[in-house]
Amino acid sequence: MVRTLLHVLKYFLGNEPASTQTTQAERAAVGRYLAGRKCLVEIGVFEGVTTAAIGQGLDEGAVLYGIDPFFAGRLGICWGKLIATREVNRVRSRGRVVFLPKLSYEALSDVPGEVDFVFIDGDHSLEGITRDWSDWSARIVVGGIIALHDTRVSIHHPNTAQLGSFAYFESHIRHDPRFVLLEQVDSLSILQRKSA
Ligand SMILES: C[S@@+](CC[C@H](N)C(=O)[O-])C[C@H]1O[C@@H](n2cnc3c(N)ncnc32)[C@H](O)[C@@H]1O
Repeated sequence: MVRTLLHVLKYFLGNEPASTQTTQAERAAVGRYLAGRKCLVEIGVFEGVTTAAIGQGLDEGAVLYGIDPFFAGRLGICWGKLIATREVNRVRSRGRVVFLPKLSYEALSDVPGEVDFVFIDGDHSLEGITRDWSDWSARIVVGGIIALHDTRVSIHHPNTAQLGSFAYFESHIRHDPRFVLLEQVDSLSILQRKSA
């Protein structure tokens, strides 16, 4: 707890950046697939670094739904949500970012209509990724993008092979006939829906 409070203090004093597990190369890769997207979803906001990066690339009128339970700590405050809110408000966006303080499977009905972009970086357990893939791959339109973090071992993420997200990507997602794998950058895999 002391470490968290120190980080929060340093962040708000401007002495430390928000924390993130994504690399700059991964955020840049995600940014290449935002043009023309109208309804976007991020599962696992944490301190909002990737949320802000996506927010910056939104088209006019686009909405990014940032889903995270934002569990409160011992003081009843979710510091991550405070930092994420500030990160998002710091960037200029032509679209809108809406936080949904829920688990991904609880938020399915809060995201209206067709989804054309999903970034999954929430529950990395086998059960979690299996459910997210089933729920959200069914929501994505033909031509839409799903980007999955922690699905490839890289020098920045050497322990990825131990995660359910990696195992399920290799056993199922990579072979899903509805999708084509467009590229992998560090631990990120980017797929496009090609058929219903
Ligand atoms: C690895 S962090 C996300 C990092 C973030 N994407 C970034 O770029 O810095 C994982 C986050 O997922 C959230 N999370 C865990 N299970 C989730 C679920 N089922 N639905 C949504 N968020 C979840 C956690 O609260 C945590 O903030």
